[in-house]
Amino acid sequence: PAPPGIPHYLTHADLSAKEIYNLLTLAIQHKYNVKYLNKSSGAPLAGKTLAVMFSKRSTRTRVATESAVAYLGGQPMFLGSQDIQLGVNESLLDTAKVVSSMVDGIMARVGSHSDIETLAKYSTVPVINALSAKYHPTQILADLMTLHEIYGPQPSSSSSYVAHQTHPSKTLPGLRVAWVGDGNNILHSMMATFPKLGVHLNVATPRGYEPDEEIVRYAQTEAGKTNTDLNFSFDPKDAIKNADVIVTDTWISMGQEEEKAQRIKDFAGYRVTSQMAKEGGAKSDWKFLHCLPRKQEEVSDEVFYSPRSFVFQEAENRKWTILAVIDALMVKKSFD
Ligand code: CP
Ligand code: NVA
Repeated sequence: PAPPGIPHYLTHADLSAKEIYNLLTLAIQHKYNVKYLNKSSGAPLAGKTLAVMFSKRSTRTRVATESAVAYLGGQPMFLGSQDIQLGVNESLLDTAKVVSSMVDGIMARVGSHSDIETLAKYSTVPVINALSAKYHPTQILADLMTLHEIYGPQPSSSSSYVAHQTHPSKTLPGLRVAWVGDGNNILHSMMATFPKLGVHLNVATPRGYEPDEEIVRYAQTEAGKTNTDLNFSFDPKDAIKNADVIVTDTWISMGQEEEKAQRIKDFAGYRVTSQMAKEGGAKSDWKFLHCLPRKQEEVSDEVFYSPRSFVFQEAENRKWTILAVIDALMVKKSFD
């Protein structure tokens, strides 16, 4: 097993609220430094390599990761499932030992969550979860950053990014997020994060697509500690009531392609539209988030391409938040 004390980033269930806020603050600082001050990083990762081992497709996570490592002066090494023996032909234990003996960090996109746990267990360098079937933590950091930008102070001009001047701990608690969709990795990550930060979460999933029971129990315990609402329903209208933000995701996650026809039937009535939001009683200025990639069925164009929709800002924030995670794990070597 790995030497103790190596920080990994597998799920926000492992992190305290303070550690999550530290990552957000770091992301906000990086965005400000790069976009508005044009500042260099000082190349703290010069001569270092991050292995980017992806067993599934990716646009945002891969581009964010490779460009973030380049900014820090390091070398991203992309290893797709056709390139290396990632759990095929060789055990993950052996892969973790071999790869971590030659690089300084591992970012992995896997199927089963136990695969990333195995990599972390046997790796001698930090491991970052770039998505598993159970969790997608870097996505939720980008969502939190975007919410902070929406609900925090607004820049007075395009070149003055001031959101960093207010701590996210002041802008996020009390927001009410509605999830209308599948009980999948994105929802699980929200459940592992929002109650801990005091962000209310209303969940609607179709019957048979509920979130993992163990994560439900975890989220309920955290919600109890912070006195935060956490509600579950099978009716999107229940979730949408008084929501500040409506979030959804594809109904067919990677690896579920064969269930497509059945899922489209089962998710009838779950398409996010303005009409749904109005009938459900969302706040009049509700906002929309989606991790992307987006399919037509889960959200209408009139919502997705509207001024309520922050999906492209959310996508860009994948870069700043992933940069923060890499900085914390590979440069600072701590979440503090
Ligand atoms: N949101 C997200 O993770 O996108 P990719 O699958 O394109 O990386
Ligand atoms: N739930 C989706 C998220 C993609 C970023 C999937 O796992 O495919």
